[in-house]
Amino acid sequence: MELSEAGIESFKLQGKTERATAQMVAVEGQPFARALRVEVKEKSGNPWDVQLQQRVEKPVQVGDVILATLYLKAEASHEESGEVQTELVMELGREPWSKSVSYPVRAGQEWRKFYVRYQAQRSYAAGEAQLLFRLGFTPQTLLLGGLTVENFGSQLALADLPTTRLTYPGMEPEAPWRAAAAERIEKLRKAELAVAVRDRQGKPVPGALVQLHQTKQEFGFGSAVVAQTLTRPGNDKYKALTAELFNTAVFENNLKWQPLAGDWGEGWTVEAALKGQQWLSEHGIQTRGHVLVWPSWRNLPRSLKPLAKEPEKLRAAVSQHVTELTTAMRGKLVHWDVLNEPFDNHDLMDILGEDVMVDWYRAARAADPSAKLFINDYAILSGGPGATPHRDNYERVIKLLVDKGAPFDGIGMQGHFGSALTGPEDVLKLLDRYAKFGKQIWITEYDIDIDDEALAAQFTSDFYTTLFSHPAVGGIVMWGFWDGAHWHKNAPLYRQDWSLKPAGQAYRDLVLGKFRTSEGGPTDASGTFKRRAFLGSYEVTVTAAGQSKTVPFVLRAGGPALSVSLD
Ligand code: XIL
Repeated sequence: MELSEAGIESFKLQGKTERATAQMVAVEGQPFARALRVEVKEKSGNPWDVQLQQRVEKPVQVGDVILATLYLKAEASHEESGEVQTELVMELGREPWSKSVSYPVRAGQEWRKFYVRYQAQRSYAAGEAQLLFRLGFTPQTLLLGGLTVENFGSQLALADLPTTRLTYPGMEPEAPWRAAAAERIEKLRKAELAVAVRDRQGKPVPGALVQLHQTKQEFGFGSAVVAQTLTRPGNDKYKALTAELFNTAVFENNLKWQPLAGDWGEGWTVEAALKGQQWLSEHGIQTRGHVLVWPSWRNLPRSLKPLAKEPEKLRAAVSQHVTELTTAMRGKLVHWDVLNEPFDNHDLMDILGEDVMVDWYRAARAADPSAKLFINDYAILSGGPGATPHRDNYERVIKLLVDKGAPFDGIGMQGHFGSALTGPEDVLKLLDRYAKFGKQIWITEYDIDIDDEALAAQFTSDFYTTLFSHPAVGGIVMWGFWDGAHWHKNAPLYRQDWSLKPAGQAYRDLVLGKFRTSEGGPTDASGTFKRRAFLGSYEVTVTAAGQSKTVPFVLRAGGPALSVSLD
């Protein structure tokens, strides 16, 4: 059943319509004779400020399998890539705007055909849903044609339909960012590791064999974990992989206020988190704290809501929570996400004023001076071109914290990716934008929710390489590594049955391979062996005159050399 009977012709400009013009024009050499030419003259703050809209007059059932086909071409673009962009959306035409698809498309001067397949995420009565093309981006002129939106109901499965492979700029093997990133990695993430071998008398031993075996990097490679899964008997695979793959962890939920307040039932206690942290620390893994204040009613304990009308009691309750939890975890955590998602979680600020955010940082610092204090939000690196308002607001809030003297140390960027994949050059630009505050940046919640596993692997590899190459980035934490413990059942590394995904292989190749130093060779005439090596922890084995000795060593930039004495 066709959901857009007249095709692109029936779409009308909506919103700030003075910013754009749309008219049908003739087209040659394509399977369609006419296309809609849209000229966007002004930049918008929100992608939905100006859009093409059409009501869906037919009812749609939850689970219906739908295929949209469309053609896009650039006429004029202000982007360096020369491309134009829009986003196809099907949603409820009123609050809460529940979406079934939100799919970014980009094209250059040649017509490009897209297949967008999706399933209805809810039922829409006749006339309730709308199809949209978002246009609230930079000024551009684009042509849209050949649109069909076919609803196959339950006759076909999603996998029966064609799909256009998603892309991102810079995915090609020869993309120039690759060599530049490799060069920065070489400079930033390595230092000279010198091993001086001495005999029992303290004399240099030339020709001794030195083998470097790196066990962890200094740069953070982490995952969200579940404290209980680490500390209960069993779950061997989960535990072994956590220890093998990561040097950093964050509890997915164990330190959130709602569960700790009892809203999620039994088992969510500070003791459980402390036990989990102990397990991690015994396995050489540092723990980030997530999260002290997630300031919307939907993410706060139920018990707080009645205080909405008593601001001073509310202020005191939040402050007390920050102090109590940071005190309970004092000295155990490397970071605390003090504030989470201020862009669309601001009920507390609406009541108490934005300066209250500064108070939370002060309270956290006072109770636990050793934890670095972070802010965290989503749609900073992810979210595609439509995330501009989110990014602008993040910069505004960070600046407010800096200006008001909040004691804070780090900027968290979640990194939940959908179909809008940000290319390396854009990632670097975004990082620079926030690096100007002089704080460390961590990617705190990476995952990629697409069904093309090969593309997910390539993106993961390119994304990690890009981040590892940027001087302000201190680490990357993924939001779970296994489908069996992941909020979208689509974790980056392992499937439910523990088989390795292509992205898992890509991660292993980088983090256990390319970004680690495993090298060896003989000492020179002065009894010294030197290599430029990745910063982090090593086991160094020295073999000479039939004896072998292994010592631990941590390579830091500007740190001391290692001296090994043979008995
Ligand atoms: C999610 C968890 O993964 C879920 O288990 C929980 O039910 C809801 O929260 N941004 C964040 C995380 O900062 O805390 C969220 O975690 C995912 C989005």
